[in-house]
Amino acid sequence: MKVAAIIPAAGIGVRMQSQTPKPYLMLAGKPILAHTLEVFEGVKEIQEVTVVAHPDDLDYCREEVIAAYRFKKVLRLVPGGKERQDSVYHALKALQQEDDLGVILVHDGVRPFVTPEQIRQVIKAARAHGGAILGVPAQDTLKRVSPQKKVIHTLDRKDIWQIQTPQGFQAGLLRRAFVEAYSRNFYGTDESSLLEEMGQAVTVIPGDPWNLKITTPDDLRLAEALLPWLRSRKT
Ligand code: C5P
Repeated sequence: MKVAAIIPAAGIGVRMQSQTPKPYLMLAGKPILAHTLEVFEGVKEIQEVTVVAHPDDLDYCREEVIAAYRFKKVLRLVPGGKERQDSVYHALKALQQEDDLGVILVHDGVRPFVTPEQIRQVIKAARAHGGAILGVPAQDTLKRVSPQKKVIHTLDRKDIWQIQTPQGFQAGLLRRAFVEAYSRNFYGTDESSLLEEMGQAVTVIPGDPWNLKITTPDDLRLAEALLPWLRSRKT
């Protein structure tokens, strides 16, 4: 059974304060999205990749990223939707005809420092358990805070994890989770939450804090500064 990856990269990126959408900002002379796709291209367990781009950026993404860097596994480019969940659903629908998919991975286009080994671990656990996600235990003290910036209470951080991508799922399970979520108008910020809504167990794979999501100008500066070291971890 095949493994397919969906790479949502259709956000508008208001937090980056830039005219260029985040996935196309340059990191060491190459678009962030190209760095991300390069990692997936190199994982032999993955047979195909679907990229989701903003409807206004489809041509740019096709020419300046997919064609320019000759990604052979990128078989589809689909337009994104209003929320991240809508973007991933568009890709899932494009994969509907494929009945030989074992596992579907979803990974943020703006997380270029995931390692091949982390991806392989997520695939393996998804095959075995149905759903698997990458995360790191919370290090800071965590508090619930009111809009008026007053502390409401302190959370017990020992069982709090910060969740990243990739998230991997048996294909049938992920499809069912999306159909059920839309039937109840449920929106989550990740795919795992849709499975959780169905009462489906999801396994957490310990990752590392360097699987950065490049969201702000500071993230981009940090990524640029740490790039040589971050790239050297890609085993
Ligand atoms: O908004 P967030 O930081 O969760 O975005 C994570 C990833 O999802 C990014 O790669 C972004 O481009 C993508 N996204 C999308 N469609 C949206 C919103 C976000 O593909 N409507």
